[in-house]
Amino acid sequence: MTTESEIKLFLDLEPRSDAILEDVIAGLSVCPKSLPSKYFYDARGSKLFDEICTLDEYYPTRTELSILETHIEDIVSSLGDSVILVEYGSGSSIKTRLLLEAIPETAAYVPIDISREHLIDASVQLKNLFPDLTVLPVCADYSQVISLDLDDAADGRISVFFPGSTIGNFSREHAVQFMSRVHQLVGVGGGMLIGVDLVKDERLLHAAYNDSKGVTAAFNKNMLSHINDRLGSSFLPSAFDHRAFYDPVMQRIEMQLVSRVDQRVRVNGNSIQFCKGEAVRTEYSHKYCLDQFERMSTEAGFVTEKVWLDENEHFAVQYLRTI
Ligand code: AVI
Repeated sequence: MTTESEIKLFLDLEPRSDAILEDVIAGLSVCPKSLPSKYFYDARGSKLFDEICTLDEYYPTRTELSILETHIEDIVSSLGDSVILVEYGSGSSIKTRLLLEAIPETAAYVPIDISREHLIDASVQLKNLFPDLTVLPVCADYSQVISLDLDDAADGRISVFFPGSTIGNFSREHAVQFMSRVHQLVGVGGGMLIGVDLVKDERLLHAAYNDSKGVTAAFNKNMLSHINDRLGSSFLPSAFDHRAFYDPVMQRIEMQLVSRVDQRVRVNGNSIQFCKGEAVRTEYSHKYCLDQFERMSTEAGFVTEKVWLDENEHFAVQYLRTI
């Protein structure tokens, strides 16, 4: 039985408080205000996200899982043997278990996550399920450049796994930049298995981000508690409302926290004014058409080798190969 104390991080690049402060002040000093979505994910935020993934209204997780289950043999044969599987935003690594069970030989698994506590928890669980697996956990903000040298740690071909349509949380421009960095990491002959949420009926999208149990609202407001914990700021999460809506022109969900009252919040010596009704953007979640996404992949240097869809064509799992 592996325990927490036996898990050693391969790389610890957890964002420091001064970097968080810089992001928070930069986002709240401009109009309209915004906060980076990466700050959803402390230990509580990661658990709330896991809960979102089980909700009836939140179709992406079960849809992607069903695509992975249905096409697992084909998917695994695209990845090939002796895979070093690098997962960005690994969270609880639930979908990865399907791959690890099916890949004949995994040289190593490299989960990358911004929440150190959640990363260690997930690594313990994986080691207990797959005792022979080499797990090399990396605590980092993958929206930044991470120099990951795996040469001495494992022998195999690198494949990146980026499920959940987390690519949709980047702007289009940053998504292409991120995919270009992945291209560099995997090198010639490598690839990326990626989940992409597709444009669909607005009512389904609206329900997915405004669930009836209020879990998404709690997840959104938890960002303020997380920032309080890291910076000692004075946000009162209950003084903000959750808002999420679909913008059909930009093809994205926008999530916001809306100030319920006129208020001032202290952030490390700064006093930030929020007017009643003022919105702070906390997340974009872009939805794509297949041809749009293929153009982005090409721009980043990939060829779209395989696309697997569910029967309603709500979600796509794609294997992109480097060229
Ligand atoms: C992680 N990411 C793909 C989720 C999404 O759907 O954009 C985060 C999320 N936000 C609200 N619900 C889920």
